[in-house]
Parts: sequence; structure tokens; C-alpha cells
Amino acid sequence: MLPDLPALRSEFDAALAGARTTADLKAIRDRFLGRKAGLLTALLKALGTVAPDERRARGAAVNALKTDIEARLAERESAAIVEDVAPGVDITLPGRVPAFGRRHPLTQVRERIEDIFAGMGYQIIEGPELEDDWHNFEALNMPGDHPARDMQDTLYLATPMPADEQGRRASLLRTHTSGMQIRYMEAFPPPVRLIAPGRVYRRDNFDATHTPMFTQVEGLVVDEGISLGDLKGTLQAFANAFFEASVKTRLRPSFFPYTEPSAELDVECQGCGGRGCGLCKQTGWIEVLGCGMVHPAVFEAVGYDAGKYTGFAFGVGIERLALRLYGVDDIRMFYENDLRFLEQLAP
Ligand code: DAH
Repeated sequence: MLPDLPALRSEFDAALAGARTTADLKAIRDRFLGRKAGLLTALLKALGTVAPDERRARGAAVNALKTDIEARLAERESAAIVEDVAPGVDITLPGRVPAFGRRHPLTQVRERIEDIFAGMGYQIIEGPELEDDWHNFEALNMPGDHPARDMQDTLYLATPMPADEQGRRASLLRTHTSGMQIRYMEAFPPPVRLIAPGRVYRRDNFDATHTPMFTQVEGLVVDEGISLGDLKGTLQAFANAFFEASVKTRLRPSFFPYTEPSAELDVECQGCGGRGCGLCKQTGWIEVLGCGMVHPAVFEAVGYDAGKYTGFAFGVGIERLALRLYGVDDIRMFYENDLRFLEQLAP
């Protein structure tokens, strides 16, 4: 009697359903499709014994079953390799994308400023956050009773640090990076072309526009014949590079004890093109930094010849700039480390 094809198919179905590993599948392949003893191989060989009038239909049926078994076995074989590698785990699932780290937005803004000035030949220097009266105030033309000292509510140390070689004791957290002008000029003769980024501290409460710690970049250029025109041109070049556009700027008269004349640099608001918007508080201008020509009293304090040298200085607040650049309205966001916020500002 000829083997019953439907019975063979059910046997194959059951065997396939029970198979777990590549070894199981190999056994099934041998039993049904093996070259010598495979059941279907035998059936095909036996076709010669079938009565001629049945042979054609019988051959087609056996071949159809063989093709079907081939296909289903092949499909399970590729899946079974997966089972063998990691039982119970589907390694064909898409992988999990690792979270990429990125630099903090304030770091990005600082580096952006550093890159621009480095490109103009400035050196980048850093100095102590614990500072003494001399560097933070006195040498910057702010003697003990100077009213400008009130402008910056200072965080003083309860116990001043041991005195250095000059007998100076660090007794406060620097309120600005301007002391770096003094530190550099005390140590090196002119010419000077530097920026000094760093953290500064003030006795401010946390609110939308103030943090007790923030970041500045100081700039100082000293040489023979440095003029206000050099300051203006330099700041214009900086503004264009920073905002990646040809931006309109203006110098607005201001006051700082260590510069004369003093000014603030405003840049036309990039948010509204100067028409007035929420970003610029409807003024059309964004205040970017304080600057001026170095006061002769500062040169005297560091022993530079004020008759021979002139210079300009500026100080940029990084947080303020970042607020404007990103259109953020609360400075505290930069210090709360909320990843949802930080990831939004990723480049
Ligand atoms: N020190 C100033 C501040 O903290 C910023 C500043 C203004 C720095 C004018 C300068 C300057 O060098 O010339 O607000």
C-alpha cells in the first residue's frame, strides 16, 4: 500500500511544532528529506512502481508536499539558530539605542566664545575663584570705600586663606572675572591679548534672572596704540561670529570703575530683527556685555606704563547670552539638570 500523504503531512506538522533547537530540526530534515532514508525521497523513488495512469497525479502530490516541507523547515531553521544563541530571547528585535552624552549648554556657549577669540589670536587663561580684595576690587580702581563695591554683593569667607607671597589673603569668592586682568598684568609685560572664562559668585537669591553662581568670560587687550575703534571692531567681529550673521551692534555709554570710557554692547535682537519681541523685552536690542578702555589707574596698579600703553577690556555673562541664544526665560533651568531641558538644547 502506498504511504498516506495526509498522514505524512500531519506527522511533519507535529514534529515541527515540537522542535526547539537546530538539532531537532536536523532530525526532522533527515527523517523526511534525507537523501538515502528520507520518507519523501523514498516516495519519489517509488513512483516508478505506481500504475502509469496514477503516476502523474501521484508525482505532483508528492512533489507539492516535499516543496511545502522544504519551505517550512527552512523558515524554522533560521529561527532556531536564534533560539540556540540566546534561548528565550529574540535577538532579531531592534537594539536599544544608547543615550548619548552631550556638553551642557553653558559649556557649549563658553566654548563657542573661546573658539571665536582663539581664532583672533587670544590666549585663554584661568584663575582662582577664591580671590582677595586687591585683585577683585582695589587694583580695579575700587578702593575700600568705593561705592561700586556695593554694586556687587560679595560672598566673603568666614576665615581668610593663608597669605600668599605678596601677603594677600583670599577672603572672598570672586564677583567677576575682571580680577584676572590684574593677575595676568602683574605676571606678564605687554602686549596682552587674552580671555579668561570662569565661575563667579554673588550674594543673590535664585530667581528667574539671578543665580548666586554664574559664568563670565573676561577679555583684555593691551598694547601701544589700542583704541576704542579696536574695541568696537573686535566686538563687532565677535557678535557676527557668535550669532552667525551680520548683526547690528551699538555701544551704549555706561560706567565701570576700571574702564574709561565705559560702555555696554547691545546687539540687535535676533529673534525679531530689531522690531521688538518677548526675547528683547520689546526693545529690539539685547544687552551682551560690559566693556571699555582700561582705566590708567588699573595700569598703575599693575606697574604698566599708562603713558605708553592703552587697552580695552570686556566682560560677557555666559548665562545671559545663553538665555538669549536659546530663547529660555528662566536662568535656573541651566542649573537644574533636567535632561528633558538639556536635550532640547543639544546641537
Ligand atoms: N566686571 C563686569 C561685571 O561683572 C563686566 C565688565 C565690564 C568687565 C566692563 C570688563 C569691563 O572688563 O571692561 O558686570
